[in-house]
Amino acid sequence: MNILVTGGAGFIGSFLVDELIKRKHKVVIYDVLDNQVHLGKIPYYLNKKAEFVRADIRDYKLLKKTILKYKIEVIYHLAAKVGVGQSQYQIKEYIDVNVGGTSNLLDIIVNNKTTVKKLIVASSMSTYGEGMYYCRKCNKEFQPDLRSKEQLDKCLWEVLCPECKTVVEAKPTTETAKQVCHSIYALSKKVQEEMCLIIGKTYNIPTVALRFFNVFGPRQSLSNPYTGVAAIFMSRIKNNKPPIIFEDGLQTRDFVYVTDVVQSCILALKSQADYKVYNVGCGKPVGILDVAKTIAKVYGKDIKPEIRNKYRKGDIRHCFADITKIKKELGFKPKISFEDGIKKLVLWAKTTEAKDFYEQAEKELQQKGLL
Ligand code: UD1
Repeated sequence: MNILVTGGAGFIGSFLVDELIKRKHKVVIYDVLDNQVHLGKIPYYLNKKAEFVRADIRDYKLLKKTILKYKIEVIYHLAAKVGVGQSQYQIKEYIDVNVGGTSNLLDIIVNNKTTVKKLIVASSMSTYGEGMYYCRKCNKEFQPDLRSKEQLDKCLWEVLCPECKTVVEAKPTTETAKQVCHSIYALSKKVQEEMCLIIGKTYNIPTVALRFFNVFGPRQSLSNPYTGVAAIFMSRIKNNKPPIIFEDGLQTRDFVYVTDVVQSCILALKSQADYKVYNVGCGKPVGILDVAKTIAKVYGKDIKPEIRNKYRKGDIRHCFADITKIKKELGFKPKISFEDGIKKLVLWAKTTEAKDFYEQAEKELQQKGLL
């Protein structure tokens, strides 16, 4: 098949491209090579067997030309700005790229005689806001609001039951959970997801939205301080600096290895997936402090993380995926454990340049009152 991967030079996109090429598809990468991610260079891992169109997702003309010229049949829409904190002040940029870019794509598909017959869009766990929780005392499952400023200012990090005020436990979050966005980034992902599904259903173009949890692995930019926590910690440790831990480090996320995410992208080609939404995670929570400790240990460096007891505005406490649906309907099975994934990440990081811009990003968040 002729497949377009927007964002195909990025972290997840590049692994997806490799897998699609391995499966003998004709692949076209459409990527702007964002400076913040690629530092002005063409990534060494860009698959030479794919066509590469260096262009912005906001460039309507070029995107249209690409889809028509290569007679694209399947589109994986991964091109996006991905920094949650950054999206809270680069509002126009995030909406322009993530929402505007998606509107370009859909507008082109709908208003031209294209050969597109499937669309798969990368959504995010961040669209849920807080995950699902259970209060033993009240015997109630619920999805809370963000923790209040008053609570966080007292360093009371855990989520409390709104009724009995006791600490509650995190539960796996299902696709039926509410999507309560707390950042422009999350909102842009929710809108992307809905736009694609609405147009897909209206024009009978099978569409699938994949809600990725915290993806990690090689090729995630080690010099982009606005990226995910595993890459940030990796870069700090490589540069002999302590990872900075917000809150107490006991907050958890669901870390899913990049090739398992690729697995979900391939499975989404199945017709059973059409017009549906799936969580893509490992299904297990991992503490943030453990992430820092594991990376340092596997790297072989005696660096202790620095617990700041400070918090980032808008951060949730826990969220991990219920992956029953994708397992049952598409046969998804995460293959790489967190520990094995970290080993692969470290092995790669040892041979890769990592410029630590963390302090600069921290300053920026502080100036904007987000930290
Ligand atoms: C991340 C991604 C988001 C993606 C989502 C789901 C980023 C910035 N965020 O959001 O794009 O859609 O997963 O896959 O890429 N932390 C520290 N120290 C640090 C950095 C983070 O303690 O230096 C903590 C945070 O306070 C938070 C946790 O680590 O509690 C995770 O943070 P982060 O990696 O930014 O991820 P999410 O907000 O979960």
